[in-house]
Amino acid sequence: MAGVKKPWGGRFREATHALVEEFTESVSFDQRLALYDIRVNLAHVEVLRKAGLLSPEEARVLSQGLREIEEEIRSGKFVFRRELEDVHMNLEMALREKVGPLAGKLHTGRSRNDQVATDFRLYLLAETGEILQELLALRQALVEKAEEVFGVILPGFTHLQHAQPVLLSHHLLAYYEMFRRDTERFRDLRRRLEVCPLGAAALAGTPYPLDRDLAARLLGFREPARNSMDAVSDRDFALEFLFASALTMMHLSRLSEEIILWMSPEFGFIDLPDALCTGSSIMPQKKNPDVAELIRGKTGRVYGHLMALLTVMKGLPLTYNRDLQEDKEPVFDTVDTLRASLTLAALMVEGLRPRAERMRAMAEEGYTTATDLADYLVLKGVPFREAHHLAGRIVARAEEKGVKLWELPLSELQGLCERIDQDVYAWLTVEGSVARRRTPGGTSPERVREALETARRELEEEWCG
Ligand code: ARG
Repeated sequence: MAGVKKPWGGRFREATHALVEEFTESVSFDQRLALYDIRVNLAHVEVLRKAGLLSPEEARVLSQGLREIEEEIRSGKFVFRRELEDVHMNLEMALREKVGPLAGKLHTGRSRNDQVATDFRLYLLAETGEILQELLALRQALVEKAEEVFGVILPGFTHLQHAQPVLLSHHLLAYYEMFRRDTERFRDLRRRLEVCPLGAAALAGTPYPLDRDLAARLLGFREPARNSMDAVSDRDFALEFLFASALTMMHLSRLSEEIILWMSPEFGFIDLPDALCTGSSIMPQKKNPDVAELIRGKTGRVYGHLMALLTVMKGLPLTYNRDLQEDKEPVFDTVDTLRASLTLAALMVEGLRPRAERMRAMAEEGYTTATDLADYLVLKGVPFREAHHLAGRIVARAEEKGVKLWELPLSELQGLCERIDQDVYAWLTVEGSVARRRTPGGTSPERVREALETARRELEEEWCG
């Protein structure tokens, strides 16, 4: 409905064009900030009271009105009106309907510019808190699966070619490391979220003696923003959030890609529970890893959101410009996408059933212990380059005969290199290969046990802290 009296309408003689109203409104999406806007309003009432701009009785009435509105929002009764443009003016008008013209005092010493920046930071503080819990649950699922499958060997790949045998637990813990770094990134960016723009007003500060430390404290921020112009126009915090989310999605997408590959009959490494797969409307035999495919697919939109906001920001002169209203939808969609993806990835990891025999059999394919053969020759005094060459010739011989390395008779091996002895066979098994990779961070069972213990300790500390 165009033509409603706007809170900013004093200098306007004509009603807003209906298309302009539709084009400029943000309440259809920024209503997500409503409860944070209430908190910011409540804190501002306190600050105004302390500054003597509201009597204690006025402050009480305003707070009471805000709390009633909060209840209506929580119970879903509150009706947001598009013609009131954004969440801030919707709440202010609702307050006016409750307490009358006194509501007009609430916007003293404040602008929607510092208000929306504060709301948005509170929103992201809450959501990153949830995301950190979801990351923790995913890391927990990875560690539990790694413990459950301890001892299972599969081929490790480089170039998607069989490279060297590794423990499946080691492979899973590689993802644990990625999500641990993601956890650090979200924790770190929260420090910069914990800065309160309130008191910057439109851009220059306000003539009223507002206690900005009090505002920051009441809202749980570490400190007030240091520069009022930066406070209303900075969106680094949202960009950092989008970047950390894009990176986490990239990790989730790689995990998904492996689940998809591993579930194909060509790999045949794993199965997923029916509950986590979907079927085909035409091919009755199909059981597809659609959840993993969608996580991989949705990664694209999160990258897009990061690029979108970087582009919104790049040409903006100080300070607030309405372009900044375009910060919200990319962030909201990223929150929804990332949180759902994290939860579903944890379910997939929990449900993942490895086909240990198939993995073990494939770990033997492709001469995955040829490096071990070269390492053996090195211990017998052959320089590595030469050892590499000799091992390559032995692989070629085995390939010609269509046998595994350990199926070549000793005499034949000795024909290629006389330093080879009976003890070589212990070096050619996949178990031996895995067991020997004992450098810190390697795939030997002792090292992986230690890595599991470290991860367990970290998780315990984080669940408690
Ligand atoms: N809806 C606006 C936004 O999201 C709120 C701030 C509006 N400020 C203004 N001066 N028009 O950015």
